[in-house]
Amino acid sequence: MRIVIIVFVFLFSLSCSDKNRDIENVVEDYQIIPKPQSLEISKGRFLVDSNTKVVGVTELENEGKYLVELLGNAIDEVAPYTIKDEGDIVLKLDESITNKEGYNLTITYENIVIKGNTPLGVFYGIQTLRQLMPTQVETTAPNKQEFTIPAAIIEDSPRFVYRGMHLDVGRHLFPVRFIKRYIDLIAMHKMNTFHWHLTEDQGWRIEIKKYPKLTEIGSLRKETMIEKNFDPFVGDGKPYGGFYTQEEVKEIVAYAKTKHVTVIPEIELPGHSLAALAAYPEYGNTDEDYEVGTKWGVFNQIYAPKEETFLFLEDVFTEVLELFPSKLIHIGGDEAPKDEWAASKFAQDVIKREGLKDEHELQSYFIQRIEKFLNGKGRQIIGWDEILEGGLAPNATVMSWRGESGGIEAAKQHHNVVMTPGSHCYFDHYQVDERERSAEPLAIGGFTSVEKVYSYNPTPEELTEDQKKYILGAQGNVWTEYIKTPNYVEYMILPRMTALSEVVWSSKESKDWANFKTRLTTLKERYDVMGLNYAKHVFKEEEATPK
Ligand code: ACM
Repeated sequence: MRIVIIVFVFLFSLSCSDKNRDIENVVEDYQIIPKPQSLEISKGRFLVDSNTKVVGVTELENEGKYLVELLGNAIDEVAPYTIKDEGDIVLKLDESITNKEGYNLTITYENIVIKGNTPLGVFYGIQTLRQLMPTQVETTAPNKQEFTIPAAIIEDSPRFVYRGMHLDVGRHLFPVRFIKRYIDLIAMHKMNTFHWHLTEDQGWRIEIKKYPKLTEIGSLRKETMIEKNFDPFVGDGKPYGGFYTQEEVKEIVAYAKTKHVTVIPEIELPGHSLAALAAYPEYGNTDEDYEVGTKWGVFNQIYAPKEETFLFLEDVFTEVLELFPSKLIHIGGDEAPKDEWAASKFAQDVIKREGLKDEHELQSYFIQRIEKFLNGKGRQIIGWDEILEGGLAPNATVMSWRGESGGIEAAKQHHNVVMTPGSHCYFDHYQVDERERSAEPLAIGGFTSVEKVYSYNPTPEELTEDQKKYILGAQGNVWTEYIKTPNYVEYMILPRMTALSEVVWSSKESKDWANFKTRLTTLKERYDVMGLNYAKHVFKEEEATPK
């Protein structure tokens, strides 16, 4: 009897393993976004079960632990990441992979090997592996279940070095746990930059220890305009405020590091600074009683070009630099009306003293002083395309938002560029046209469909091949005048950021809208399991299309 059972178990396990070895996979098993540079489908499937071990070198411990966490329910609960070079899932560093963010992922019946030139590449290999695993890995439910992963050979690397998502926390504030979820989404899409817009007319959101009034006064507005009741103004009568402490900022930056996401802080100047002026009116141009903004728009109140203002901003940046290790620091520069400078004797005297032509050159002077300070600390500035007006600061990167013309001009001047044109990259816009808008939550305007985002090419044809090299990549912008909750942020970014992730990662030649939509329909199941809120228009189109 015993022999019979042993033989039976042996045959049974043999047939199971044979089954996994011989499975013919189909293209539907490989629905990866962003699309990898090359994918070779192979025969067989790798089984993940409680015995599966993840191994690799010490430098890849962060990535190994991340993968172990993902496999969570399927593998032994206490399975740690083990420092070895042989096992079931092996993470490796390999200098022969030339792209710093590139990876090779080989999945066979026997094992899985993920190689990268850097831990970042290995991390992206894990993100691809994740999309080949069933959606159960996205839950934390204790349903221990083994699963299989289809065999493949994947070689992959990104098209652009800058792949960003922006979030405005000035107009509305989001909890630390949501900022982490936002960072998770950036990482899942193999994007690498979180542009954190921290200061606005309607709220200063980062603790600066030397200037406590920035948050005591500047983070609080007395009320918020209801919908679009600009004139006559109708407010909700409810105080609104909040800010991130330096401890919270450190926690977020450290968290982002583990997900290979760089956090670029934005401290706006010289405009969009009404909240700072409400706290420290001495840095303004007039004697008025400044109040933190309660409605949206562009305000005339901007910083005065005084020595005291520069000292203040340098102090602010000194604390900001302590918190954010990113090479690029965003200094804003957009939408700064020059009326106050035109009317101010002090500002006009600075124009004369410095031999400047006009107020635009004064803005350029203002920004170049900040640039010099930041360059002296080993950092580089990035600013909205208005920083071209009056002359670009020598080492500045330009973020092109008023279309692409600013980016084109900057690239021609051999400055680095990040493309964020309103036409394709503003995720605060509506996702449907005017006829279908009644069912949509209130948005600022515009119409940017998922397909439009997907169609975007960040390297304009009028640039020469040499000039195109200055285009670092692109970014989705999320301005939150009307986006008040995390749930609504998710609705506005998904699936548009998913479309953008393919724009910035995959090769231009491989783009195919119909094929992307099919893969997106698979990724949607992951959104569902992750409990994400997303816009469904693009999936409805699919259902409505006759087959
Ligand atoms: C911007 O949208 N004001 C940069």
